[in-house]
Amino acid sequence: MREETIRISPEEMAQQQRFAREFAAREDRPQTYYIVTYGCQMNAHDSEKLAGMLEDMGLTAAPRKEEADFVLHNTCCIRDNAERKALGNVTWLKEVKKERPELMIGVCGCMVQEPGMADKLLRQYPFVDVAFGTGNIHRLPELLLRAVDTRRRVVAVPEEQSTLIEGLPIHRDSDFQAYVTIMYGCNNFCSYCIVPYVRGRERSRDESDILREVDMLQKQGVKEIMLLGQNVNSYGNDVPGGVTFPQLLRRVAECGVPRIRFMTSHPKDLSDELIAEIAENPALCRHLHLPVQSGSDKILTAMNRRYTRESYLKKVEKIRAAAPDVGLTTDIIVAFPGETDQDFEDTMSLVRSVGYDSAFTFIYSPRTGTRAASMPGRIDPAVATERIERLIALQEEMTQRRFSEMIGQTQSVLVTGQSKRSDRQITGKTSRNISVNFEGGADLVGQIVPVKITAAGKTTLKGKLEQA
Ligand code: 5AD
Ligand code: SF4
Repeated sequence: MREETIRISPEEMAQQQRFAREFAAREDRPQTYYIVTYGCQMNAHDSEKLAGMLEDMGLTAAPRKEEADFVLHNTCCIRDNAERKALGNVTWLKEVKKERPELMIGVCGCMVQEPGMADKLLRQYPFVDVAFGTGNIHRLPELLLRAVDTRRRVVAVPEEQSTLIEGLPIHRDSDFQAYVTIMYGCNNFCSYCIVPYVRGRERSRDESDILREVDMLQKQGVKEIMLLGQNVNSYGNDVPGGVTFPQLLRRVAECGVPRIRFMTSHPKDLSDELIAEIAENPALCRHLHLPVQSGSDKILTAMNRRYTRESYLKKVEKIRAAAPDVGLTTDIIVAFPGETDQDFEDTMSLVRSVGYDSAFTFIYSPRTGTRAASMPGRIDPAVATERIERLIALQEEMTQRRFSEMIGQTQSVLVTGQSKRSDRQITGKTSRNISVNFEGGADLVGQIVPVKITAAGKTTLKGKLEQA
C-alpha cells in the first residue's frame, strides 16, 4: 500500500514567512543562533535549512555556542552513542542557562522523532525550550515565536512522516559545494536500522523542483553537487510513470555543474543502467558509496538486506569492468546478533577482495523498535571490539594499497580550503572523494585544479599543483 505524501502547501509556507517576519520584529527575541549538527549529510543539509529560516527571522550566526542566544541541536539516533552525545551536550547547556536564563535551547531532528522521546524531553529536560521532529522543520518560525510569546516550552512531533517540504530558505555552508535532497525517507527496513521509523516512507521530490534548484546552483557558480537520499537508487519508485535515478542523473548533469555526487546507493537497487551512466557521464564523480554491512549471507539475510555476498561481488565486478577508475567505499556493521567468528571472517575476506578506498565501520547498536533489537545472540562487547579493531586494521592496509596506486597520477582536485596545519598548504577533494593536501594560495579555494599525487598518508594524499 502506498501512503499518501502530503506536500506542504504554498499557503502554509507563506504563513510561516509571516511568523518569521513577526518574530523578527520582536525586541525580546534571541538575536544570535548556533546549530549543533549530529549524524549524516541529510542532517547537515537540514541544518542549512534551519539556518536559512533563522536568518529570515532576523537572527545572525554566533561564532561559538557559548555566546549564542539560541542553541539548536539537530540530532541523530542511528546508534546509541550518537544519541547519548546529543543528550549530553544538551544537558551541558543547562549550566550555561543558569548563568544566562534568557538562553533558549532547542532540540530537533531524528532523535526527537523516536517514540517516547518527546515525552522524555518534557519530563527529564525541563530546560529545553523548543523540540520538533524532522517532519516539522518548516514550522520553526511558528514554534519559536510561540515559545518567546508564551514563555512556555513548545514540543511538536508529527505522528506520521509523510511530508514533502519545498521552498524553505537555505543558508548553505559553502559557495561552491551544495547538497540537494532528491528523496526523503526509506522503505527498506533493514532489521537494525531506525531510519525508516524516524524519517518515514520514501518520498521523491519532483524532478522539476530538483532541476530548478540545480540550475540555480549552476548559475551561482557551484562546482560540486551532492544528491542526497537514504536510497537514491529507488528515486521515482513512488511516483507512477516517474523518471528513474539514472535518468535524473543525466538531466542533473546536463545543467552544467562540473561535478555531481550522490549518496547512498543500496546494492540491491544498483542497476546496470546506473553503472552505464557512471561509466559514460564525465560529470559524475568517480566514487560510489555502496554499503555492504556484512560479508556473510546468513547475517545479510538476518539484516534484511535482500542481496547476497555473491550478488554484491558481481555488481562490484561490473562496476570495475565498466569504470575501473571509480573508487568504492562502504559501511560495515560488526557484531550483529548471531554473528559467529566465521561470519566475521566472511566480512574480512569480502573487504580483502573488494579493496575499498575506505570504510565506515560500526559496532552493532540495538535500537528500540527495530526487529534486530529483539533477536537472540547478542555479541560480547569485548569480542565486538576485537572484531572492529581487526577490521579497521585490514581496511587501513587496503586504503594504503589503493592510495599508493595513485602516486604519480594527475588528479583534478576541487580546492575546499586552507589546511589547518599551515597557511601555505591548501586542501581539496579528488573526483574519487579522497582528500589531497598541497602547496598553494587561498585564491584557489573553490576552483578545480590539476594536482600530481606525490605521497600517500593514512587518510589523505599529498600532491603538487600542476600548471593548468
Ligand atoms: N548499529 C550500528 N550501525 C548502524 N547503522 C545503521 N544502523 C545501525 C545500528 N543499529 C550503520 C549502517 C548504515 C550507516 C549509516 O550506519 O552501516 O549504513
Ligand atoms: Fe537504514 Fe537500510 Fe534504509 Fe539505509 S537502506 S536507511 S540502512 S533501512
